[in-house]
Amino acid sequence: LTDSLARAEALITLTPDYPEPGVLFRDISALLVDAEALRTVTEALIAPFAGTFDVVAGIEARGFLLAGTIAATSGVGMLPIRKAGKLPNPAASVEYHLEYGSAVIEAPGVLEPGARVLLVDDVLATGGTLAASRQIVAALGGEVAGAAVVLELEALGGRRTAGDVHALFHAAD
Ligand code: PRP
Ligand code: HPA
Repeated sequence: LTDSLARAEALITLTPDYPEPGVLFRDISALLVDAEALRTVTEALIAPFAGTFDVVAGIEARGFLLAGTIAATSGVGMLPIRKAGKLPNPAASVEYHLEYGSAVIEAPGVLEPGARVLLVDDVLATGGTLAASRQIVAALGGEVAGAAVVLELEALGGRRTAGDVHALFHAAD
């Protein structure tokens, strides 16, 4: 398992100055397209949460890919947490701060009351997205079972904002 995880981590690509100068962007595309890496990573993401969640929530856009895979292999449903303006009838809408400016995420009112929701995403950066996602789940009447990401960018201190997060891989910068 350690070997498989190390192999999956090595598939994460780094692109300097994307999407803007000074940012070193991590992309999981090559990990997603690799069947063994995708299976290993999705299994490791949910390992600490076995039996504790009824729904897996994916955060647009790359979180959808992980959440859909986890839903299919875990036998649970999937809640899409969307960027603003994509849903006809959002039941919850939360504004959060980015490094510059702000953003809004929304979700449909489809959770059973008390549904236990596992939040998943590809990268934890400043933590704003995950913190807002926790608020979204609460506003929908669900309970957050936990949060899991593939990669934590430690220098951004996102854990302070996002709360407890299970991160498979860690980057110092
Ligand atoms: C990225 C990433 C997380 C979020 C992390 O998404 O996939 O969702 O940023 O940042 P934070 O911890 O600082 O909030 P992005 O905004 O690039 O959206 P996309 O997946 O739709 O491209
Ligand atoms: N990759 C994906 N999402 C991100 C990143 C990154 O490097 N930084 C902030 N959000």
